[in-house]
Amino acid sequence: MNLQVKKLTDLDVRGKKTFIRADLNVPQDEAGNITEDTRIRASVPTIRYCLDQGAAVMVTSHLGRPTEGRIGHEDTLAPVAVRLGQLLGQPVKLITDWVDGGFTVEPGQVVLLENCRCNIGEKKDDEALSKKMASLCDVYVNDAFGTAHRAEATTHGIARFAPAACAGLLMSAEIEALTRALGKPKRPLVAIVGGAKVSSKLTILKSLAEKVDQLIVGGGIANTFLLASGKRIGASLAEPDLVKEAHTVMDLMRARGAEVPLPVDVVVADEVSALARANKVSIGEVSPHDRILDIGPKSAAHLAQLVANAGTIVWNGPVGVFEHPQFAGGTKMLASAIAHSQAFSVAGGGDTLAAIAKFDIAHDVGYISTGGGAFLEFLEGRTLPAIAALQARNQD
Ligand code: 3PG
Repeated sequence: MNLQVKKLTDLDVRGKKTFIRADLNVPQDEAGNITEDTRIRASVPTIRYCLDQGAAVMVTSHLGRPTEGRIGHEDTLAPVAVRLGQLLGQPVKLITDWVDGGFTVEPGQVVLLENCRCNIGEKKDDEALSKKMASLCDVYVNDAFGTAHRAEATTHGIARFAPAACAGLLMSAEIEALTRALGKPKRPLVAIVGGAKVSSKLTILKSLAEKVDQLIVGGGIANTFLLASGKRIGASLAEPDLVKEAHTVMDLMRARGAEVPLPVDVVVADEVSALARANKVSIGEVSPHDRILDIGPKSAAHLAQLVANAGTIVWNGPVGVFEHPQFAGGTKMLASAIAHSQAFSVAGGGDTLAAIAKFDIAHDVGYISTGGGAFLEFLEGRTLPAIAALQARNQD
């Protein structure tokens, strides 16, 4: 894995017009209030760096998935401009109709260019649009790791035509952390892949099966693996038609002397609800009406041991329905093991971030990715188009 890209800190941006593509795609409530601002906070260091260097700073991002050619009230970055201004401690003017220029920004100033996904041609990576946007700047900075799996005009096309193109501080940190975890990891490399469906994570499981020493599966994914190993799983969520694929993953691992440790005990109930009565049973005791909703304490202790001895940990997805306390034990124990492990750990994905917040271990995880889909595609071993576009400019 060789992801050489030029970094913002390699360039001199003093007095330069700098176009930063950030991922400021944050959740909002119905009134437009931002409910979670991690991505805005994560984008601040690059903007701050450029301002401190004396650059004239333009920032843009997508918000949601709008129709091109119009800006609905739910599409505007106006609330983001306010929040960004508060975090930077300086005004952030929002510019609409910016593609053809016609606005000014001085060194030390920052403007926010309205939702780039409202521009016609953005999503299909239109060359004419990319060239226009590239002509607005001296330096293009891609800091939008969360959108790196999209080949769009602000994440891909513009990188081809801008006078200079580089990765921002967040993008560089994401690339570095993920490359460290999956490129040349300190062994043993332990991956935890949880979630409801094998089908949605099959490519990830196969890709990790070629790299990791232990592949811990959880949730509905583990149920399908349990089925594949001949266990009875009662009325649990599983995908019987993917049992063959689960075998393939286990065979791939076994052939390398690696393993998929499956639960020896589980927590079952007959429904998924806050009031459900949970029972801890050994894996041989699951009855036909039982639903497996968490791993049991013996399994959790064993997995925690694997995590404690790991050199590197990659975590995506909980191992139980951790939203309800009676099914949270497994995920909590793993989270605590990750927090206490000496291993370098990388975590990403919506549910995983929610578990990290719930069990309050954010400070003890090596790196928490801001990517959702982008993080998953990286785990799948895919080339992310935005990173590839930066790589292509690395030799400039
Ligand atoms: C995300 O929320 O995962 C990113 O901002 C990408 O958004 P998209 O899936 O709409 O491209």
